[in-house]
Amino acid sequence: MTEQVYPVPAELKRDALIDKDRYQALYRQSVEDPDTFWAEQAEEFLTWQQKWHTVSKSDLNRGEVAWFLGGKLNVSVNCIDRHLAKRAEQTAIIWEGDDPADDQLISYQQLHTEVCRLANVLRERGVKKGDRVCLYMPMIPEACYAMLACTRIGAVHSVVFGGFSPDALKDRINDADCQVLITADEGLRGGKKVPLKANADKALANCPNVHTCLVVKRTGGDIDWNGKRDIWYRDAVEAAPEQCEPEWMDAEDPLFILYTSGSTGQPKGVLHTTGGYLLQAAMTHKYVFDYREGEVYWCTADVGWVTGHSYIVYGPLANGATSLMFEGVPTYPDASRCWQVVDKHGVNSFYTAPTAVRALMGAGDEFVTRTSRKSLRILGSVGEPINPEAWEWYYRVVGDERSPIMDTWWQTETGAHMMTPLPGAIDLKPGSCTVPFFGVQPVLLDAEGNEVEGAGEGSLAIKASWPSQLRTVYGDHQRCIDTYYSTYPGYYFTGDGARRDADGYYWITGRVDDVLNVSGHRMGTAEVESALVLHEQVAEAAVVGYPHDIKGQGIYAYVTLMEGAEPSDELKKALIQQCVQEIGAIAKPDIIQWAPGLPKTRSGKIMRRILRKIAANELDSLGDTSTLADPGVVDDLIGNRVNR
Ligand code: WTA
Repeated sequence: MTEQVYPVPAELKRDALIDKDRYQALYRQSVEDPDTFWAEQAEEFLTWQQKWHTVSKSDLNRGEVAWFLGGKLNVSVNCIDRHLAKRAEQTAIIWEGDDPADDQLISYQQLHTEVCRLANVLRERGVKKGDRVCLYMPMIPEACYAMLACTRIGAVHSVVFGGFSPDALKDRINDADCQVLITADEGLRGGKKVPLKANADKALANCPNVHTCLVVKRTGGDIDWNGKRDIWYRDAVEAAPEQCEPEWMDAEDPLFILYTSGSTGQPKGVLHTTGGYLLQAAMTHKYVFDYREGEVYWCTADVGWVTGHSYIVYGPLANGATSLMFEGVPTYPDASRCWQVVDKHGVNSFYTAPTAVRALMGAGDEFVTRTSRKSLRILGSVGEPINPEAWEWYYRVVGDERSPIMDTWWQTETGAHMMTPLPGAIDLKPGSCTVPFFGVQPVLLDAEGNEVEGAGEGSLAIKASWPSQLRTVYGDHQRCIDTYYSTYPGYYFTGDGARRDADGYYWITGRVDDVLNVSGHRMGTAEVESALVLHEQVAEAAVVGYPHDIKGQGIYAYVTLMEGAEPSDELKKALIQQCVQEIGAIAKPDIIQWAPGLPKTRSGKIMRRILRKIAANELDSLGDTSTLADPGVVDDLIGNRVNR
């Protein structure tokens, strides 16, 4: 395989925050003497109310991790108050609405007022340190205010992506025992309304402990109202005082819960804590995007995902940056939208997902080339492997061969970037997330759990704790251990496979567990299967991913019907609807194949490897089928593959 290498641009080599020598020196220090390294960074990046007594303490066998023990700080103070002396009038958030005519600039001073007032409202409603608050919000500034207001009073937020269904919302509210929900009447995306309050009403019908629902008026659409529970956000905030004393939190106090999918069971509430998370979010934001004073930075993620948490809200605001928040979608009103926004607000860094790059690439160059984009300096990619074709297009057409692409590998559980280039230090190879960030020690493990040396391939694990590591799965530490620390004792196991080349560059090869990555959204095959089998005519379902041009992976479902049930297009539609209802639109199967039988071992285990190969049309590498209870089912599945 010939690999094109894109060296660090000369200008960045000269003046980037981190050059090659500094990367190497700091990386060495960060792994040889992590406590000294991280203590220095914690002093530089954060403002502490009280200093820590112990930098770190961890036992990966038991999934026990702690950073900056004894230290006290408040996240909202770090993201807002401490900037006021210098930046009260500077824009903290540029909000760009779904409609191109709709935007708003929010200064650090305004952000302070909004956050303090809302924090006071929450306090008045009885929310105390440690209580959980659920957010089910569109991409509007109030989503940021709400996250920061929680941090001001030490409440733990659990943001649920606005695309999730009422059922999915209900499960998450109840799992974390949230007593307050913050939502909006409706969201607006690509000109379409999203019925958030109506969904919330359905969810709350089965959430007996929620006593307060704060509702932002976004569209003014018709909604139902429960006078005992519902409060208009604006009315409440306007009646609240503008000052709010921050709650001083221990570095290890919980900051937020974010649900994410694994290979088994219901989604897990990944728990992050205060000090270590904020430090690594801030530090990576600054160094990975080479962030300079006064720049405009745009991450296109939704705040419902970890990327929105770390790289729209916490990282940029901790650094006193101007962070752009976009309500809409990249293709509305047309595929030129992102670049028009870049020109309109003078965006310097642009961070998005490969699925968006591929969709925009498919729309044609003209949508890009008719815009200037001359403000752009750094590009970023996150969420799934970026294929070299999409990388080249992003680099050449969007970036005019000027802006390096930071392909950042990380996870909800890692809290912040783990492997990524740095603009002034690391030469790029399209499709590789390149090298570890400071303090991160990746390893590749073979089937026996031995570390692979030099170039090679294996399961990707991390050898030592890092500050923004997940601390537990909310309410179930054993599940945390079972999921991340027991496959390879002594390591954090990522669930990803990876290859390391002769230059020490890492290439993520995809998940090695039963987790799908559809348009950068993580989903367990088990979740989709559970939704399908809820239908009364379904006996069994097996779901796998298959390569999809735009989404990266598509959802391929093999469905076995009950005796006597007849396959039909209506039934297919009903099954798709079932997934939308149980999980959300992101879980719609792209392909449903009727399967009279599924390939199983004699002990009854479904052989997904075979199903994946059939779905991917890789029929000459099916592998050994002799251990199947009934090898004949494979021929039937191959014969009845769905054309696409
Ligand atoms: C995948 C998103 C390749 C990976 C931040 C990981 C990537 C999962 C990349 C986490 C990348 C994320 N290259 N694969 N740059 N970034 N992934 O929790 O499989 O939503 O395990 O976090 O996305 O998804 P999550």
